[in-house]
Amino acid sequence: MEKRHKILEIENMQTYYGDSHVIQGLSMHVYEQEAVSIIGRNGAGKTTTLRSIMGLTPPRSGNIFIDGRQTTRWQPHKISRLGVAYVPAERHIFPGLSVEENLRLAARPGSGEDAWTFEKVCEHFPVLADRSHQDGATLSGGQQQTLAIGRALISNPRIIIMDEPSQGLSPILVQTITDVVLKFCVQSGITLLIVEQNYQMALKVASRHYLMDTRGEIVNNMTTRQLEDNPEIIQAHLSV
Ligand SMILES: Nc1ncnc2c1ncn2[C@@H]1O[C@H](COP(=O)(O)OP(=O)(O)OP(=O)(O)O)[C@@H](O)[C@H]1O
Ligand SMILES: [Mg+2]
Repeated sequence: MEKRHKILEIENMQTYYGDSHVIQGLSMHVYEQEAVSIIGRNGAGKTTTLRSIMGLTPPRSGNIFIDGRQTTRWQPHKISRLGVAYVPAERHIFPGLSVEENLRLAARPGSGEDAWTFEKVCEHFPVLADRSHQDGATLSGGQQQTLAIGRALISNPRIIIMDEPSQGLSPILVQTITDVVLKFCVQSGITLLIVEQNYQMALKVASRHYLMDTRGEIVNNMTTRQLEDNPEIIQAHLSV
């Protein structure tokens, strides 16, 4: 088998909020073009893990490698310039800016004919095209999530890191967002790291899953097939 490239690798990461030791030695990796999820209950340390990768809450020790580069404690803007887009759970749509402005601010040139542009976003997300002049903050939850994903795509990233995209959405909208993530991220070859408490969504979009217990402890690392065959494992880790 050909040796796969680890586009993201974390070794023994320790992250604190002040004296609070929230991630106590996390190791994981994501191969290029792989879609991986982190599944874990409230407060396990999922968001903190993503924030550490993005440089927003830098780890105190351990190593993070992105595309072979040691990026531990790099500034967030430097990490995003490597081609890493972050879609936070709160979506962080800029209020007072239109949908179009929210998108254009995030745009970075991509290579090739299928690179994402404002026009391409409008073509694939008519809901954003129709509302391109509307203040982004006045969109509904599902529309804001679509905008947040569009904003990630228009930066033409190699890796998208998503925190609970299903949060606060109705089941129908979760389905819509699942389809969007599958079609435009996973199937188009963008590496995906997604955090979800909605494990049904995680199983649909990702092919490998890290089960996180408290304090960022990874208790298992399984394929979608293995988890589907052993649903009790998920229940054990998500129930309180
Ligand atoms: N800014 C902060 N200051 C202090 N403690 C924090 C801060 N943010 C998170 N924590 C604590 O760190 C731990 C991990 O939080 P984190 O947000 O990473 O968990 P999570 O797995 O994303 O949870 P959720 O499912 O609620 O999103 C929790 O105990 C939380 O209370
Ligand atoms: Mg969280």
